[in-house]
Amino acid sequence: MRVIVVGFGVVGQSFAKLLLSRSADLYSQHGVKPRIVACVDNKGSAIAPAGLDLQRLLDAKKAKDTVGAYEKNSSKFDPLQVIENVDAEVVLECTPTNLSDGEPGTSHIITAMRTGKHVISVNKGPLALAFPSLIELAGYNGVMFRFSGTVGGGTPILEFAKRCLKGDRITSFQGILNGTTNYILSKMEEGLTYESALEDAKKKGYAEAVPSLDTDGFDAAAKLVIMANWVMGMKVTMKDVKRTGISGVKVSDVKKAGERGNAIKLIAACDSRRLDVAPTEVSKKDPICVNGTLNAVTFSSEHSGQQTIIGRGAGGMETASAVLRDLIEIRDTIFER
Ligand code: HSE
Repeated sequence: MRVIVVGFGVVGQSFAKLLLSRSADLYSQHGVKPRIVACVDNKGSAIAPAGLDLQRLLDAKKAKDTVGAYEKNSSKFDPLQVIENVDAEVVLECTPTNLSDGEPGTSHIITAMRTGKHVISVNKGPLALAFPSLIELAGYNGVMFRFSGTVGGGTPILEFAKRCLKGDRITSFQGILNGTTNYILSKMEEGLTYESALEDAKKKGYAEAVPSLDTDGFDAAAKLVIMANWVMGMKVTMKDVKRTGISGVKVSDVKKAGERGNAIKLIAACDSRRLDVAPTEVSKKDPICVNGTLNAVTFSSEHSGQQTIIGRGAGGMETASAVLRDLIEIRDTIFER
């Protein structure tokens, strides 16, 4: 499988590292032999139809902060030209999330679909702003569109709801969808200030390129929109979410909640009447009351009651593992056709 990687930040690089460490067993266990044939970042590009040397690509990025340093005299290509003109089966979109207009990710995804390439996106912007039309475009062009890594990092929250609960009707769900704010709130419980906890989350690579996307609840809202569309069949976008972030939460609020046996969590909730993101007091005995960068979602369904899925919700390797899952699924579906 030939893959074009667009965006080479934490997730893109983790994906390359994952492929390096897993190439033998990916082939023996899943019959997948992924080759990254082009990689583009905001400063340059590297192209090799036979497959880029991934260690060299990672080294180039580390040394010069661009994959353009892979070749000595490389030209800078426009990502849209690379997507359009380089032969590949899959485009992996991992440029930073932009929740204002979804760009440049949306144009990358549209161009990939229009040129008959399957798409894996870890970028939440295009999905949060234009989910219904992107699904339609994928169907129109006969390509697969996968986005496991947009919700839950490596934890298969979308797949759990869509596949494991197949046949049942999910009536509502609620949970923690943002690792950074959960990390900050957990650290505040341990006595750290909001600011130092945020610094810590940035250093560890959990936070978005623009951290207010996390702290003001935009990231959780984007994930809520993706889930509402995919899991509940709703046709909603960011403007349908009522959103409050965590910047107003004080250490004293966290302490008082603790005295009542509760914790303050940024809860995203969806039912037929509402899409909300807000700091909410949750009992420490509730299974969604998880700490650190963990995400947790409780689904309520008509016949099977409540189930909670918990797992790591952020991090490069975690999200890269979701990309790999999507890639294997695309490969399996191509083979079944
Ligand atoms: N900034 C996001 C989070 C990354 O903290 O959850 C994963 O989507």
